Amino acid sequence: MSKNILEHNTVELDEKDNSLVIIDQTLLPGRIELIKLKTAEEIWDAIYLLKVRGAPAIGVAAAYGLYILSLQAFDRTGEDIDAFRSEFIKQKDYLNSSRPTAVNLSWALNMMDKVCTASLAETKSVEKTLKALRDESVRIQQEDIDTCKKIGEYGLSLIKKGDGILTHCNAGQLATSKYGTATAPIYLGLEKGYDLKVFADETRPLLQGARLTSFELQSAGVDVTLICDNMAYSVMKKGLVNAVFVGCDRVAANGDVANKIGTGGVATLARRFGIPFYVCAPTSTIDLNTKCGDDIKIEQRPDTEVTEMWYKERMAPEGVKVFNPAFDVTDAEYVTAIITEYGIARAPYETSLSEIIKKKNEQ
Ligand code: MRU
Repeated sequence: MSKNILEHNTVELDEKDNSLVIIDQTLLPGRIELIKLKTAEEIWDAIYLLKVRGAPAIGVAAAYGLYILSLQAFDRTGEDIDAFRSEFIKQKDYLNSSRPTAVNLSWALNMMDKVCTASLAETKSVEKTLKALRDESVRIQQEDIDTCKKIGEYGLSLIKKGDGILTHCNAGQLATSKYGTATAPIYLGLEKGYDLKVFADETRPLLQGARLTSFELQSAGVDVTLICDNMAYSVMKKGLVNAVFVGCDRVAANGDVANKIGTGGVATLARRFGIPFYVCAPTSTIDLNTKCGDDIKIEQRPDTEVTEMWYKERMAPEGVKVFNPAFDVTDAEYVTAIITEYGIARAPYETSLSEIIKKKNEQ
């Protein structure tokens, strides 16, 4: 297996044995290992345990997962449409319960559901519907690739050669199907000789920045420097950061943005130093049904991620109380712009985000 992480797909459908193949991201950067998932429990666990993670990648994995589980359902139900439909909904709801904050998960599952409903009504055939579900899951992945590329082009238009860029968590290739969202301008900049200097926050507690972002950017030949989360102030104060690019898990209608815990702090610091804070968001991450950040459900993770995971031995006293939210919400007022595949939205976001979604729906 190659040592270059970028030579492997984050998420892949293997049609030889109808399995979902992912890079197990919990083993990076030490080991690049591809694992095969077939059962509902294996897919659910892989999402919950962050073996596959990052909002768009979770969506793609769930779409492929639901297709694979539909094939298995067909083995049991045959052409009994009601029985198939009820199994389909059961599996959809189960996968949807794996993580609550990234809206891409329910977005992708709902896209699959729409296709399932329409195809069953039109063809009255489970077998033909399976083909439609396969095509939809492949389309969702292709859309993710195209989307990230466009976000990269818009993002690059906001920076100049030689700029310093700070990013938090991993919104890179490992969080999507290709290019990443926050990293897309960086990859595009690399191709075009922009000579960008990237600072990757390590991103406690699960170290997505240290283990994943610095690994994939270094593999690609990007000038990347790893910093602890509490060093962002120092590099900003030294004038080394010209722009912040982050990904996100859900954008509310008013422009409040949920992303990896710590993002809100980075946004606040960026404001302090007059640095633009850009959020890269595929339209699949925009949730106009959620009015504002207070309405976004924030995932709480196990205490052990803070006290002992990644350490050789436990680093906190037994029994200490731990607070471990996986995400925080950055208020819209700190967001300079939201970069989507349909253009760049700026405040007031109620209007600009609706316009972006309208543009999407018209195409
Ligand atoms: O808990 P994770 O690793 O799934 O969190 C990922 C993030 O917060 C990313 O920034 C976000 O999903 C965007 S990925 C393009």
